[in-house]
Amino acid sequence: MSKKLYIKTYGCQMNVYDSIRMADVLSPFGYSETDAPEGADLVILNTCHIREKAAEKMYSDLGRMRLHKLAMEAQGKRMQIAVAGCTAQAEGDEIIKRMPYVDMVVGPQSYHTLPELIAESERTRMSQVKLEFTEEAKFDLLPQPTTAQGPVGFVSIQEGCDKFCTFCVVPYTRGAEFSRPVEAIEREVRQLVAQGTLEIALLGQNVNAYHGAGPDGSEWNLARLIRHLVAAVPEMERIRYTTSHPNDMDDDLIAAHGAVEKLMPILHLPVQSGSDRILKAMNRKHTAAHYLTIIEKLRAARPDIAFSSDFIVGFPGETEEDFEDTLKLIEAVGFASAYAFKYSPRPGTPAAEKENQVDLMLQEDRLARLFALTQRQQLQFNQSKIGTTQRALFERPGKQAGQVIGRSGHMQSVVLENAVDYTGQMVDVRITAAYLNSLKGEVVSPALPKEHYVEAR
Ligand code: 5AD
Ligand code: SF4
Repeated sequence: MSKKLYIKTYGCQMNVYDSIRMADVLSPFGYSETDAPEGADLVILNTCHIREKAAEKMYSDLGRMRLHKLAMEAQGKRMQIAVAGCTAQAEGDEIIKRMPYVDMVVGPQSYHTLPELIAESERTRMSQVKLEFTEEAKFDLLPQPTTAQGPVGFVSIQEGCDKFCTFCVVPYTRGAEFSRPVEAIEREVRQLVAQGTLEIALLGQNVNAYHGAGPDGSEWNLARLIRHLVAAVPEMERIRYTTSHPNDMDDDLIAAHGAVEKLMPILHLPVQSGSDRILKAMNRKHTAAHYLTIIEKLRAARPDIAFSSDFIVGFPGETEEDFEDTLKLIEAVGFASAYAFKYSPRPGTPAAEKENQVDLMLQEDRLARLFALTQRQQLQFNQSKIGTTQRALFERPGKQAGQVIGRSGHMQSVVLENAVDYTGQMVDVRITAAYLNSLKGEVVSPALPKEHYVEAR
């Protein structure tokens, strides 16, 4: 009998990928995904623990899920609720103590065990907790993915982090760095491309620290993996990777940005702060000058490359001067987009213990000043594309009739109006207008619908 599965995903793209894999694990057991929790046989909250807000959101959603569960019980049916992801790993059975109606708590390294946990919870009516760290086993034991992902496909190639930045929970929730073997990644990429995916996003918490086993038995780095995938899967139109650490941006990878045309000219390279004093307190092990050198080298290798970054404002002990150093770094780089967060103390991390926490009002003020600058840069970057032709991959129809939405090689949102549905196609677009969050354009030489190309071959 078919069962309904509702998955809610919080946080990063690694979680998006994990949710797809969880659905794949459960599909042989009769579960198919639905987009609302009401009436679902199984609800999975795939959680994020990076900042306090993300964890709080999960608890308030759990309260809502409980009401759906009670509604089902009133009809004599059972809804199982599973908490997966990083908050599951970090809080473990605390979640069940707080919310006893949660049936399963499963960490990010254990979701291949979901079918057993479901059966066990069904049989015993006791809450199940599974938090083992067995990264290798997880990927070995997971079935080959089957879900088509659409024009953009995510492939997790690396998990975990050994860097221990003093603000971050990732090394605790995702464990030590682990890289998947090249052959397993290639198999997944081939499958996605055969299903119509044109852009591959290689994912990892520390993706440029990739050091997986190559088919020849030696250790391959990310640059070699990318070059290999581009050569082995020619139907793949473009490729990117996220998220990187400045210290793992080696010369080979920088050179790949110059040599591999299909490697998208965009790099998300979190710097967190522009103050060497704060970078040291964060245990980032790089300076602002080192970061700028990497940016310079990348621009020399690939002149059209654009950058995005993550920033934390109000890290313990951050002074006005430190913050101004961050603004200076932003001025020096000129980012195409940026994410910035108020420092959020996370339980068990060294920075959370510091006495010199920064006042919330001050954090908010700095965040607003930082955004004012990064948004100005983002708008300028978008405006610099007016009049140019950008090759965009169209991902979905827009809200209004005749709208299609895609992304440029720089990951800018590109909107076409009064167009045929170009979803799943790469199309050359002349940019006619630019806004903070999107570009508007017209198709250069009208591309034919995809079916035409298939038949014409
Ligand atoms: N507080 C605020 N932001 C954080 N990040 C990670 N940990 C914290 C924290 N404790 C941010 C970093 C990281 C991004 C994914 O989240 O900027 O790059
Ligand atoms: Fe967290 Fe630092 Fe590792 Fe990134 S590099 S996941 S910020 S500890």
